[in-house]
Amino acid sequence: MIERLNRISASLARHGVTTSGQRCEVGLVLGSGLGHLVDAIDDARAIDYAEIDGFPRSTAPLHAGRLVFGTLQGRRVVAMQGRFHLYEGWSARDIAAPVYALQRLGVAHLVVTNAAGGLNASFAPGDVMLIEDHINLMGCNPLTGAHDESLGPRFPDMSQAYWPAHRAALIEQAQALQIPLQRGIYAAVAGPSFETSAERRYLRVIGGDAVGMSTALEVITANHAGIKVLGLSAISNVATGAPDQQPDTIEDVIPQAARAGLQIARLMAAVLPHLR
Ligand code: HPA
Repeated sequence: MIERLNRISASLARHGVTTSGQRCEVGLVLGSGLGHLVDAIDDARAIDYAEIDGFPRSTAPLHAGRLVFGTLQGRRVVAMQGRFHLYEGWSARDIAAPVYALQRLGVAHLVVTNAAGGLNASFAPGDVMLIEDHINLMGCNPLTGAHDESLGPRFPDMSQAYWPAHRAALIEQAQALQIPLQRGIYAAVAGPSFETSAERRYLRVIGGDAVGMSTALEVITANHAGIKVLGLSAISNVATGAPDQQPDTIEDVIPQAARAGLQIARLMAAVLPHLR
């Protein structure tokens, strides 16, 4: 991993981004249908993932595949416009590498976003859910394998995986903006098939409020690296597995995620100055 991070750093340096230059403070990971959130970034500079040796490439639908540097609400940000998923064939370590790379650039706070199905029957497509915690059902962990103490501890704590003060700040901003906010547990599965109805009822029983195919591995990595996480899900479809469960299509999921994304953009802008 260290050798890989060195290659990523060297590529970024060739594009004028150095670990000793102007440091980034906040990382943003933009999920399906949420890539347009980069439009709000001032003085934006983008580097395609393809230009970064050691970075995976985005192949997911509507994931652009670039790092966007700039400022947002006065904070130095770096956004991952497009993320990496197990279902694309990337390993848990491939998914971890960009998160460690962001930390090298100075990132101390990470805002992760995703599209997710609503397991909780009180959720509707277009809702925004504050992720309070996750259940990793992906069957893997990015920290499996050789351990390098310089990246973080062998057995990192995950009891506050979604940083409590960041969650409180987000709730406060949602109230101030009068943006309705759901809260709940994100169940992470590998995909790419959507869940069966029985699986969704099971995910609900074990405590899930929303289900998706990303985020948990990045959040494990961020916690390993000492980065404080804020997570938001765009509820894009009903996923209760009830008798009236409708079939899912990615064509329905993306526009609903984008609708929630309009509120996520407002929330993100409002909360950024409060991430300390
Ligand atoms: N299941 C898994 N991932 C998803 C869903 C879903 O219903 N909706 C958006 N991402």
